[in-house]
Amino acid sequence: TISQVHGREIFDSRGNPTVEVDVHLSDGGFGRAGVPSGKSTGENEAVELRDGGSRLGGKGVLKAVANVNGEINKRLQGVSPFNQAEIDHILIELDGTPNKGRLGANAILGASMGVARAAADSQHEPLYRYLGGVDLELPQTFHNVINGGEHADNDIDIQEFMITPIERKNFRDGFEKIVNVYHQLQANFEKEGLSTGLGDEGGFAPNLPSDEAAIQELVKAIKGAGYEPRKEIGIAFDAAASSFAQKDGTYLFEGKKRSADEMAAYYEDLLKKYPAIVSIEDPFGENDWDNFAKFTQKNKDRVQIVTDDNVCTNPTLIRKAIKAGLATSFLIKLNQIGTVSETMEAIRLARKNNCTVMVSHRSGETTDDFIADFSVAMHAEQLKAGAPARGERLAKYNELLRIEEELGDQAKIATFPDSVDLD
Ligand code: PGA
Ligand code: ZN
Repeated sequence: TISQVHGREIFDSRGNPTVEVDVHLSDGGFGRAGVPSGKSTGENEAVELRDGGSRLGGKGVLKAVANVNGEINKRLQGVSPFNQAEIDHILIELDGTPNKGRLGANAILGASMGVARAAADSQHEPLYRYLGGVDLELPQTFHNVINGGEHADNDIDIQEFMITPIERKNFRDGFEKIVNVYHQLQANFEKEGLSTGLGDEGGFAPNLPSDEAAIQELVKAIKGAGYEPRKEIGIAFDAAASSFAQKDGTYLFEGKKRSADEMAAYYEDLLKKYPAIVSIEDPFGENDWDNFAKFTQKNKDRVQIVTDDNVCTNPTLIRKAIKAGLATSFLIKLNQIGTVSETMEAIRLARKNNCTVMVSHRSGETTDDFIADFSVAMHAEQLKAGAPARGERLAKYNELLRIEEELGDQAKIATFPDSVDLD
């Protein structure tokens, strides 16, 4: 049984405070989990508890830590760690609010993940095996190699420009291709006199003349590294359009006010010019469901369309999105909903309705590699965890390399969904 749940305040990859939780079992089992934190957060995310006041810019998490060491520790002591659904149910009941704002989603998720890790440790199993059993698959990975929007101090409005290895023998082979393109991109920027400083997710963050120029740089780097765009390496982007959506329903993009129809035309023009684009996330704002769904219905045979901010890993909102035909893929972030079990439910729901899922890191991360194991356990089709740079991003990819090595012949890899026509 659980003997102690202990929280502490640590710091994330942006130097902001976050919650870490240690879970000790009576049989000696131990689990530790670090909670990530987003910047371009959706309105419907579970609430992370921050202290406010003047200490650390109001971002301290000592109240959330006190909730772990107080109420959560007291309630979970003596409980079996092996029924994750039951653990998470207890945490949700104890909090008692719909958005986990009383104890804090950061306190609750830390405990939820920590218990899963401790249970795996107690059974001497790797986390992916404990959570996933035998039905395991390594995800298709998306790597954010040019950072803009709220993740970088440049003048690019689209938040993330990603590359993904379409043709690959195994995870390592695909990742090596990504690393080669990343280094080619760096060399190109150096030659062009552009900054090679990094944004929050490890991608480069130079000032470019336009958002389209970022895509041109990716095509050039893919070719420069010796690969064929689309066939071998695909391109994806997360517009995170809520960050430039205006209250009146327009979008302030590249310094100009644009209607939703103009944004749709802009994206469709990119799709026409750049066949390598295989996936688009959040092309419209989180409150602009009608234009979002219209765009998806028109373009879903050409490109995967992912939603993040509209549904925030919330099963109720995912149900609504499926009814509305909002997207063909759902971004999945544990801390948007706040427990491991609810995240699993979100994934099952998406899959049952023939949608793919993309498990995701946050722009503020710790070195915790939980999402690598989690994506394999859930045989999630896709994972985005940043560029092949910065330790907190590599932690996830290096864990996937270890998992692939451990699985050996049994290692399966996801392929890009057939529903998106790649020919
Ligand atoms: P965030 O960004 O972690 O800052 O919310 C990630 C995303 O929008 O996908
Ligand atoms: Zn997003």
